[in-house]
Amino acid sequence: GGQSATPDLSPVIGHRGAAARAPENTLAGLRKAHELGARWVEFDVMLTKDGVPVLIHDETLERTTSGRGRVADHTLAELRALDAGAWFAPAFAGERVPTLEEAIAVLLELGLHANVEIKPAKGREVATGEAVARMLARTWPTDGPRLLLSSFEHPALEAARRTAPSIPRGLLAEELPADWEEALQALDCATLHLDHAKVSLATLHLLAERGVPVLLYTVNTATRAAELLKSGAAAVFTDAPDTLLAGL
Ligand code: G3P
Ligand code: MG
Repeated sequence: GGQSATPDLSPVIGHRGAAARAPENTLAGLRKAHELGARWVEFDVMLTKDGVPVLIHDETLERTTSGRGRVADHTLAELRALDAGAWFAPAFAGERVPTLEEAIAVLLELGLHANVEIKPAKGREVATGEAVARMLARTWPTDGPRLLLSSFEHPALEAARRTAPSIPRGLLAEELPADWEEALQALDCATLHLDHAKVSLATLHLLAERGVPVLLYTVNTATRAAELLKSGAAAVFTDAPDTLLAGL
């Protein structure tokens, strides 16, 4: 019972690594975020056909890899053969779709705090929440960097809670849900993650007053970030951590 402890956040969180500076959801992207000064990163995790958690955003491969079709129809061995960097820039050719386990090793090496977004393919919400939580429970040191799970999918958060109750969770939504208080309580979530374009500054002030840490995606200018943080947001997700850190 009781809300999970709120993890100590930094105001600037690299989105999908540093999505404007390196291919999203790759090991190069995590390293780039760190190099640009981010202390926290967010990335998306989905299951392969054979149940391995990997970093990727879309349910299909076309946009961010050299492959075709659904992630959930490919085994890890099949995904391994794909290029996940060349689409972004030739210098990143050879980047692969990383496993969560590989990403964890890089995060621990760099001391990067992580918001792991559970991004299940439709119908695999529970399996994905369980697999992500199980992997983190097994490999993330209790005295390691800070960790925050999140998902748009309530069943995925419930599964993570059952599997690894002590890893803090955040509830993701686009707009502020009408039942946000009940939802946070029911899922025992410490934070609320919203689309910055769909929440008013007045709402941010109200949520700050209520003591709810709000994290906003995706904010790519320093002026907008400053306005949101001044209005009470706890942090913003950005594709360009260097731009925000230079301007704040
Ligand atoms: O976790 C914040 C943000 O990443 C949610 O949206 O589509 O970029 O995963 P999306
Ligand atoms: Mg995400």
